[in-house]
Amino acid sequence: MTAVPHAIPGDAVLSCQGLGKTFGAVRALHDVSFFARPGEVTALIGDNGAGKSTLVRCLVGVHQPDEGAIRFNGRDKPYADPDGARKAGIETVHQNLALVDELTVAQNLFLNREIVRRVGPFRFLDRRAMRREAARMLSHLSINVPSVDQRVRRLSGGQRQAISICRAVGAGAKLVVMDEPTAALGVQETGNVETLIRRLKAEHVSVVLVSHNFDQVRRLADQVWVMRAGRMAASVRAAEVSGNDLVALVTGTR
Ligand SMILES: Nc1ncnc2c1ncn2[C@@H]1O[C@H](COP(=O)(O)OP(=O)(O)OP(=O)(O)O)[C@@H](O)[C@H]1O
Ligand SMILES: [Mg+2]
Repeated sequence: MTAVPHAIPGDAVLSCQGLGKTFGAVRALHDVSFFARPGEVTALIGDNGAGKSTLVRCLVGVHQPDEGAIRFNGRDKPYADPDGARKAGIETVHQNLALVDELTVAQNLFLNREIVRRVGPFRFLDRRAMRREAARMLSHLSINVPSVDQRVRRLSGGQRQAISICRAVGAGAKLVVMDEPTAALGVQETGNVETLIRRLKAEHVSVVLVSHNFDQVRRLADQVWVMRAGRMAASVRAAEVSGNDLVALVTGTR
């Protein structure tokens, strides 16, 4: 039940084999293989420092692995940096949010993908279109913020997280990677994010979800991968394991 598969299925949307990454003397990843099936929620669990964020950052082009291969959407070496990953169809919600405090909600939602209006040879930022579209994206996801013109600096942690997720899912991605999207959220906001993940899946968007919340993982995930001390320790179908099984896999007592 718990062996890590050696073969990557041909229809995997994202996969890696033999990934290694060191930071100075720290070996963060050691011979890591992983894959996500299309249209599934693929969870990645493990203790603090197990290597989850490092793996995710390698998979979305933030870190360059020292060794190993990555494949996305049928292509080898699919991108060289996060911008390339995003253009290829991967959106990421990082553990430490990447919002710009001094910009408004609408400006953050359209950061690096501004709506531009052309008049003859000139290009203008279409601020009105961006504000209208921002309001539509937020209401589509039932996200409550005082106004799209509010500076992000003045929002709560949960509201900021919601904006960051909205930004990722609003872009029409093929795969959304979320590193602990609900770690800082209250009960209701966590519920909203879980609804959002279910909706993505219903729309055939693949999701990779890093989470410490095993109940959440069992509620949402199809497949669960377990990391221990920089290695991939197990891969199981979520429906076939209990919460206690997951604890045992993470701590290595099984
Ligand atoms: N940029 C970095 N520079 C140096 N060491 C790093 C860096 N990023 C991660 N590490 C180290 O690599 C190891 C794996 O860290 P990583 O952040 O991937 O763990 P994690 O599984 O995401 O943990 P958590 O659940 O706490 O988020 C840790 O020992 C960490 O200290
Ligand atoms: Mg992490």
